[in-house]
Amino acid sequence: MAVRSAFDPKDMVFRHLGPTGLKVSVLSYGGWLTVGGTQKGAIVKELMQTAWSYGINFFDNAETYSNGQSEIEMGQAFKELNWPRDEYVLSTKVFFGTGRKEPNTRGLSRKHVIEGLKSSLERLQTPYVDIVFAHRPDIGTPMKEIVEGFTQAIRNLNLAYYWGTSEWSASQITEATLIAEKYNLIAPVAEQPQYNAFHRERFEVEYAPLYEQFQYGTTIWSPLASGILTGKYNDGIPDDSRFATNPSFFSGTVKSLQTDEGKDKIEKVRALTKIAEKLGGSPSQLAIAWAAANPNVSTVILGATKVEQLKDNCEALKLLPKLTDEVMEEIDGILKNKPAQMPDFGRRR
Ligand SMILES: NC(=O)c1ccc[n+]([C@@H]2O[C@H](COP(=O)([O-])OP(=O)(O)OC[C@H]3O[C@@H](n4cnc5c(N)ncnc54)[C@H](OP(=O)(O)O)[C@@H]3O)[C@@H](O)[C@H]2O)c1
Repeated sequence: MAVRSAFDPKDMVFRHLGPTGLKVSVLSYGGWLTVGGTQKGAIVKELMQTAWSYGINFFDNAETYSNGQSEIEMGQAFKELNWPRDEYVLSTKVFFGTGRKEPNTRGLSRKHVIEGLKSSLERLQTPYVDIVFAHRPDIGTPMKEIVEGFTQAIRNLNLAYYWGTSEWSASQITEATLIAEKYNLIAPVAEQPQYNAFHRERFEVEYAPLYEQFQYGTTIWSPLASGILTGKYNDGIPDDSRFATNPSFFSGTVKSLQTDEGKDKIEKVRALTKIAEKLGGSPSQLAIAWAAANPNVSTVILGATKVEQLKDNCEALKLLPKLTDEVMEEIDGILKNKPAQMPDFGRRR
């Protein structure tokens, strides 16, 4: 039988996911609030096909996204798109559960890591995910149990190939890694943190030792700060935008845009837009390329409700080579938030 292939990398850039041999497209597509939330059915398939057509091979989900509905929608789209399973990389996340009240249906106990992941796989209609993330740290479960739970999911049950963390502190990630080494368990390989031009400190400073010591990978989220960096909120809240369609979740963010700090952000977006135009791109493309330019980013997870947005965002790749040191300095001059690195006292290798 002929080998089936559906994937064309086009001009996509691929990076190793941290210390692993797994290669992920530097742009990827995730389903928070959109897939199974505001978007269902044919449009989901269209969005995923659009991502794929740009050479995106990595798709992200979580048990908690629309209480499992996001995985159901994505799973259905994968089924209909019928791409060979070994041509795409899929992740999901356990921790927050799917909105049920029973206490074991969330967290990182061995029980929920395994049962939560099994339920996710059912919704996604796949026997395994490539990466399963611990969506948050669980300070009520011993770290050894957490690492054992993920090791069992991978080593004994073949439910995933790798595991990662999301919004864990550097010390929690280090603890998990050292426990894995000590007890011959499987260590996490990548963190899924927020990283964008307005949110830099943790990614650039706190995690820096993790990149050096463990070659820790990152699959970064909200590269557009939920859309603020596109410029769409410069003059108010458009009716069909995330801040309008999810009013309770974003009420604090909407209020904060009225403060001096919020207004300052919008001014920065206006200034960044000028740089983007000078480079021949859009503000969204500049924000995405800026994040992808950081070599510690394995992949930038894009969110999009519309095909046009996704196309705009995928074109960010053309700006990557234009982000010279001079341009990056110009951007830092606008952002004025470049975090200071920990002092090395002249002892850096
Ligand atoms: N691990 C975690 O805790 C965590 C947390 C959040 C997200 N994530 C992951 O990261 C992914 C991306 O995060 P995100 O969705 O917050 O990313 P984002 O890029 O900051 O925001 C995406 C949203 O901005 C709007 N948008 C995108 N492109 C646009 C364009 N070109 N022009 C105008 N508007 C545009 C769309 O919303 P509207 O059209 O509705 O305005 C879109 O859904 C998620 O899907 C999820 O997989 C992970």
